[in-house]
Amino acid sequence: MENMQTINVLLTREQIEERAKEIGKQISEEYAGKSVYLIGTLKGAVMWMADIMKNLEIDTEIDFVVASSYGSGTSTSGVVKIKKDLDGDIYDKNVIIIEDIVDTGTTLHFLKKYLADRNPKSLKICTLLDKPSRRLVEMEADYVGFSIENLFVIGYGLDYDQKYRNLPYVGYLEG
Ligand code: IMP
Ligand code: MG
Repeated sequence: MENMQTINVLLTREQIEERAKEIGKQISEEYAGKSVYLIGTLKGAVMWMADIMKNLEIDTEIDFVVASSYGSGTSTSGVVKIKKDLDGDIYDKNVIIIEDIVDTGTTLHFLKKYLADRNPKSLKICTLLDKPSRRLVEMEADYVGFSIENLFVIGYGLDYDQKYRNLPYVGYLEG
C-alpha cells in the first residue's frame, strides 16, 4: 500500500460498541412507551447511527441530513449549508440528532435551530465524540459517547480527506 502512515488507536470497536449499548439502553428507558425519530448526519455518523439504532427497544424511524460547514482545511468558517434535507416530517416527533463529533459546535448549532423551526415535540443530540476544548459556540450534546482531547481523529465514520471512514475503530495519524 502506498502512503503508509501509522494510525494510533484511540477507541476500539469493542469500547464503542459497549458505549452504544449503554446509551441505547438509556435512550430506551428515557423514551419508554414513546417513539423516536433519529436523524443521522451524513457521512460521518453512519457507523455510530447503526450502533445506536440496534440498541433501541422503542419504536424508531430513521432519516438523514447532509450539513456542510465551509472553511479551509480542518477549521470551519461558521457558514453551514444543508446539502440534503430530511425525507420526512418531524412535526411533533421526538427527534434525536445522531452526530459523529462535536468540534467547534458550529454545525450542530445551526442544525439544531434549523430542525427546531419545524416544531418537533423534543430535540436532543447524541454524539459519538466530543471535543469540548475546541468549542467556538455553545453546544452541549445530551448523549456523549466519549469526550476526547484536541486530536484530529479518523475512522468509525470520520474522515481525513474522505479517507479512513471504514476503519472499525477511532484513531489518529502519527506525526
Ligand atoms: P463543528 O461544526 O466544528 O462542530 O464540526 C463538525 C464537523 O467537523 C464534524 O461533524 C466532522 O465532520 C468534522 N470534524 C471535526 N473534528 C474532526 C476530527 O477530529 N476528525 C474528523 N472530522 C472532524
Ligand atoms: Mg460531520
